[in-house]
Amino acid sequence: MAKTHAQFVCNSCGALTRKWQGRCDGCGEWNSITEEQSISSGAPKGLGGKKGRVIELTDLSGPPRGAERHTTGIAEMDRTLGGGIVPGSAILVGGDPGIGKSTLLLQLTGSLARSGMNCVYISGEEAADQVKMRARRLGVQQAEVRFGAETNLRDILTTLDGEKAPDILIIDSIQTMFLDSLDSAPGTVSQVRASSQELIRFAKSRGTAVILVGHVTKDGQIAGPRVLEHMVDTVLYFEGDRGHQFRILRAVKNRFGGTDEIGVFEMTGEGLMEVPNPSSLFLTSRDEDIPGAVVFAGMEGTRPVLVEIEALVAPSPAANPRRAVVGWDSARLAMILAVLDARLGLGFGSSDVYLNVAGGLKISEPAADLAVAAALISSISGKPLKSGTIVFGELALSGEIRPVSQADARLKEASKLGFDAAISPKIGKKGNKQKMVTNEMAKVIDLLNLFEITSKDL
Ligand code: TYD
Ligand code: MG
Repeated sequence: MAKTHAQFVCNSCGALTRKWQGRCDGCGEWNSITEEQSISSGAPKGLGGKKGRVIELTDLSGPPRGAERHTTGIAEMDRTLGGGIVPGSAILVGGDPGIGKSTLLLQLTGSLARSGMNCVYISGEEAADQVKMRARRLGVQQAEVRFGAETNLRDILTTLDGEKAPDILIIDSIQTMFLDSLDSAPGTVSQVRASSQELIRFAKSRGTAVILVGHVTKDGQIAGPRVLEHMVDTVLYFEGDRGHQFRILRAVKNRFGGTDEIGVFEMTGEGLMEVPNPSSLFLTSRDEDIPGAVVFAGMEGTRPVLVEIEALVAPSPAANPRRAVVGWDSARLAMILAVLDARLGLGFGSSDVYLNVAGGLKISEPAADLAVAAALISSISGKPLKSGTIVFGELALSGEIRPVSQADARLKEASKLGFDAAISPKIGKKGNKQKMVTNEMAKVIDLLNLFEITSKDL
C-alpha cells in the first residue's frame, strides 16, 4: 500500500521542503509554508508493465467541436477574451480584493442569462441576500441566473452532475472552495490546485465554460504560486487603482486569442460601465500649460489610447535622491535618466524624480520613452510643451530615436481628440495620413532644441 508522508509546501511560490521553516528559501516569504500530505513512496516506478487503455488519435483538419463562442454582450469583455467565451474552457479572473471582480462577473452572468444562456453562480464568500442586493443595484435581478452559496466542491459538482450541464459556471472565489478528501484548509496550494483540477475536468467533460475568481496576493500572484495559471485556458487580470474609478481587464494568457487587448471599465454606483473610447479618460483638461506634463499616444492592443505622463524633478537634500514611478517601469526610467545624462549632459543626480501616468493606467510600451524624456526635460527646465501636442517614440541607449509601430493609428486618434501636432520618430509621408504637424526627430538632442535650451542653461 502507498505510504503517506508529510511534505511542506510554500503557499507563495510552491517550493517543496522536507521540514517546516518560518521563511521559504525559494521566495523569501515569511510564514507561507504549510504541511500537505503526499502519497509517493511505495508507489510503483514508471508504468510497471501494466497496459492502459488505447486512446483515439485524430488529425487536425476538419471543424472543431463547439468552436462557436458565446458573446458576452459586454463588448469590452469580448474584446479582452478575443471574441467571446469558448465553451468548455476555463477562465481565471484575478485581481486585488475589492477591485470589482464579483461585480463584473455578476454583470456578465446577468448579460449572458438574458441572451438565453444557462448560468450558475456559486459564491463561497457572500450569502444569497448579499448577492441579491447587489444584483438589484446592478439591474440584473430579473435575469435567470441560478445562485448557490457553497464552498464544498463535492456538493457543488454533485448538484451540477444531476442535471443538464450549465453553459457558464462562475466560482467566486477558488480560494474559498475545498475538497473534503484533502486535509488542508481552503486557500492552501493543495486545495486550490485540486479544486481547480476538479472544476476544469468538469468543464472539459460537460462543455461548460468555467470562470474562476482568484484573489491575488500582495506581490501580485494568483493564489500565491502560479499553479493555476498553467492549468486554465485564459487568465484575465482585473486591475486598477482603488483611488480611481477606472478598471482595466487585461488578458495575460489566452489559448483562444491574443493577449494584447484590454477592456476598460468605470466603476459607478450602478456597477461597471464600459468605456468604449478610453483616450478621453486619461487626459486632464486644463487651461494653462504645465511644465512636466506630456500627452503620450500609446497603443493597447489594436486600440490607440492617449494618456498624460507627468514628471516632477525637484532638488533633493538626500545623498540618494528618490525615484518614484507610478504606472511605468522604474528600470526604464533609470535608463532614460542615464541617456539624458550621458547624451545631453542633463544631470539628475542631485534631484528627486517623480513620474506618474495619469488615471491609474499602467504603460508597458517602449514607445513611451520619448514622452517620458520630454516630460523630464520640460520639468527640469520649467518650460511647458505647447498644448495640443502628442509625443511617442522609443529611445535607444545611443540617444537615437527609434520608430514605433502603428504611427498612423496614434496620429489618427490624436487628431480625432483635437490635437494638432506630434513629436515622433521618422514616419515619412506614407505613415502620416492625418493633417498633423509632425516634428520628426532622429536624436534625443532634438528635444533640447525644441525646448530652446542648452545643457548649460540648467
Ligand atoms: P467587488 O465586486 O465586491 O470586488 P471583489 O469581488 O473584486 O472583491 O467590488 C467591491 C467594490 O466595488 C466595493 O468597494 C464597492 C464597489 N462597487 C461600486 O462602486 N458600485 C457598485 O455598483 C458595486 C456593486 C460595487
Ligand atoms: Mg468578490
